[in-house]
Amino acid sequence: MSTAPNSRLPLRCWAEIDLAALERNLRLIRASLPAHIRYVAVVKADAYGHGLPQTAARLMHSGADLFAVATLSEAATVRELGPGWPILLLSPLLPEEDRYLADYDLAATISSSAEVARFAAVGRAAGRPIAVHLKIDTGMGRLGVWHEQAPALHREIAASPHLRLAGVFTHFASPDDDPAFTDEQRRRFLAALDRCEGLRPGEIFVHADNSSGLETMPGASPFNAVRVGLLQFGILPHPHSLLAQVHTEPVFSFRTRVGLVKTLPRGTTISYGRTHTLARDTRVAVLCAGYGDGIPRAVSNRAQVLIGGRRCPVLGRITMDQTMVDVTEVPAVQCGDEVVLVGRQDAAEISITEFSRWADTIPWETLCSVTKRVPRLYRTALGV
Ligand SMILES: Cc1ncc(COP(=O)(O)O)c(C=O)c1O
Repeated sequence: MSTAPNSRLPLRCWAEIDLAALERNLRLIRASLPAHIRYVAVVKADAYGHGLPQTAARLMHSGADLFAVATLSEAATVRELGPGWPILLLSPLLPEEDRYLADYDLAATISSSAEVARFAAVGRAAGRPIAVHLKIDTGMGRLGVWHEQAPALHREIAASPHLRLAGVFTHFASPDDDPAFTDEQRRRFLAALDRCEGLRPGEIFVHADNSSGLETMPGASPFNAVRVGLLQFGILPHPHSLLAQVHTEPVFSFRTRVGLVKTLPRGTTISYGRTHTLARDTRVAVLCAGYGDGIPRAVSNRAQVLIGGRRCPVLGRITMDQTMVDVTEVPAVQCGDEVVLVGRQDAAEISITEFSRWADTIPWETLCSVTKRVPRLYRTALGV
């Protein structure tokens, strides 16, 4: 296992990132898709909190075709790892960021005539065309040109010698719970593509599906790529995902240790705001992690943790650096014991989906909320 640079000190709260599982997941997802479907690895937000350089390096090794990031700084990190690897910026650029498209050799998402003019100016100055993916808004209401106006914007891109169309895509608003609207978005997208004169889908990336909607259109569909974020980290966006039968493994686990164990009498109130009162004499363990590490305050009095392979309930409010749990049923527990917040311990497991439900949130947000204070430890060996 390789560790973060400042991790010579004993660990108090850390995340373990199983890069070998990430590689197995990518290969499994790939194997479940038709061979011609290209793999766009979505690694924005520090690769969903897993650590961008380590994650992107492993995904390159595993055969990702293109990297999708949100910011220039993320793009620069991926570029440093892989000169020549295609990178797509999913977020809009600020005007003063435009020139870095050429410097870092990036593809931009394009949604408007104003962007056509700006990015073409960068291409003209650089002496080579800037790659762009035309984004079509089919009902997400975020980036992209409205689908009815897509053919006109496509004409502008095609007319510019300083732009090179490298892809066309859309994004689904409710792929996990509204199949009818997702179908409507697909229909709008395909209709828009049909009206884009001279568009050659076979020569560019054509993508829409993410982890929730991963599917490929049968027959002569122009879709030839998928954008995978959550699923490559071993998390199903919802139990009825089309790829639920692909058994990806969690890449991330979140761990801390017991800092203190003590017995408190029945009737004692626990933590800020006194929201929990002990109903019996209780062995309480104080854990070395709190919301300063990414345990959301919303899980106060709701979450459970694993200690000695047993589930132990959180008592009272989560505090910045410490969390109290009931360990009355785990008599051998002592200072220094490992605690699992998300992950496996012996036969027991707390999934990130369960943890996120306690916080009334989604796994995407939970992963992005693990703070900088938490070192990431990387498991690299492929194993079995
Ligand atoms: C435009 C876009 N495509 C793809 C993804 C990946 O989605 P998922 O993590 O559900 O696979 C995201 C994630 O937020 C996104 O914003």
